[in-house]
Amino acid sequence: MKEEELIKKAVEAMGLSYSPYSNFKVGAALETKDGSIYQGTNIENASYPLSMCAERNALYNAYCHGVTKEDIVCLCVAADTDEPVSPCGACRQVMSELLSESTPIILTSAKGDKKVTTIKELLPDSFKGEDMK
Ligand code: THU
Repeated sequence: MKEEELIKKAVEAMGLSYSPYSNFKVGAALETKDGSIYQGTNIENASYPLSMCAERNALYNAYCHGVTKEDIVCLCVAADTDEPVSPCGACRQVMSELLSESTPIILTSAKGDKKVTTIKELLPDSFKGEDMK
């Protein structure tokens, strides 16, 4: 799938956002080697800490379908921001475990600006399972 199509899938997921508290809609979409697309959006709760970000929902959605990091070719995140959306720290930590270091991550804004990065760039020296050995 072309980058622009994956961006459209992330924007489409934004439309499903349940964000009555922040009114900030975020969408994410990832593509796997076999061409499957897994989407996620942010889902909030009146008990705020129970809310879940779009990126994590997309990754958890994919893993719930048997996808692993080796299968993921690209992750895209979209939000109605001026600059390409910046994933929160919790999402970066989850990405560091569920995405490969070099998997492209496309961050986009409502204006259509985009930044292509990797989790290695977004969260260098992340805490890993190996650190506990
Ligand atoms: N949010 C995301 O979905 N992804 C991010 O990386 C940043 C924040 C959501 C969480 C919450 O529903 C809303 O945006 C405001 O923080």
